[in-house]
Amino acid sequence: MLPNKPKTKILVDGGDPNETLRIKSLIGFVDGQTTNPSLIAKNPEVQRLVASGHRLSSQEEKDEYKKIVQSISPLVGDAGVSIEVFADLDTRAEEMLAQGQEMFSWIPNAYVKYPCTHEGLRAAQMSVQKSIRVNITLCFSQDQAAAVYAATKGSREPVYVSPFVGRLDDHGEDGMDLIKNIKKMYEHGDGHVHVLAASIRGVNHLLYSFALNAELATVPSKVLEEWAAKGFPLPDRNFTYRGVDANDKPLKAIPYKELDLNLPWQSFDIAHELTKKGIQKFVADYESTLRRSA
Ligand code: G3P
Repeated sequence: MLPNKPKTKILVDGGDPNETLRIKSLIGFVDGQTTNPSLIAKNPEVQRLVASGHRLSSQEEKDEYKKIVQSISPLVGDAGVSIEVFADLDTRAEEMLAQGQEMFSWIPNAYVKYPCTHEGLRAAQMSVQKSIRVNITLCFSQDQAAAVYAATKGSREPVYVSPFVGRLDDHGEDGMDLIKNIKKMYEHGDGHVHVLAASIRGVNHLLYSFALNAELATVPSKVLEEWAAKGFPLPDRNFTYRGVDANDKPLKAIPYKELDLNLPWQSFDIAHELTKKGIQKFVADYESTLRRSA
């Protein structure tokens, strides 16, 4: 059991209620959960259905996703369960919103995940006006985080933005710099957007997220188990983080940008190659599992 709870809320990044339960007994609590199409495709029950030769209809896919999040929902605390809409690069905001509205009704503690694209942000803007809680995923730049802030201004509920640390690292850039920069930029804001460190690949990412006071971190069970095995260390005053690649070579620093959060969200440069690739990967992972012919 975790002796001292960090201020950062801890979410499980996964798609299997049994895994969430296991982590809950390991740590003593789980604040929330994030899911996405790649993780749902890995769910053991979904895998079993597919392996049995059953080809799921769109309705059955949705029903499976709903069943999974309904099992996870009562296990977690007030950071809720993030449920991601199915979107490819052509999906319009209105369609994402229709999915989001339905997903939001599945459980009492849902956050609807939209991709950090023009259409995703339009969907998010419409969602917060309808009091639907949102989590903007696949965030890779400070401009995107500024646009999330501006598009969701006035939301009564906290909005989550999910910067993907590990994927920036994979790209040779120091992903933790993005968390640091967004936190610094939001100091000038009204606090309605909470930073959810995502794509966490190791205990060091987690500890630095704590040190940077990220409001939340979503973490694969494997990393939480490593953290537990080390005795749940927390960063002390002497904690330092080195962003390095697999060969211990320093990652490229991401410089801070002065951005005005009061500008209209459409004025920020939100295009990012990794957001596009991320959407394509979610679609490909999902399709390759669930559309596999028997
Ligand atoms: O939380 C985001 C996560 O699911 C993506 O992680 O390891 O695929 O970059 P990863």
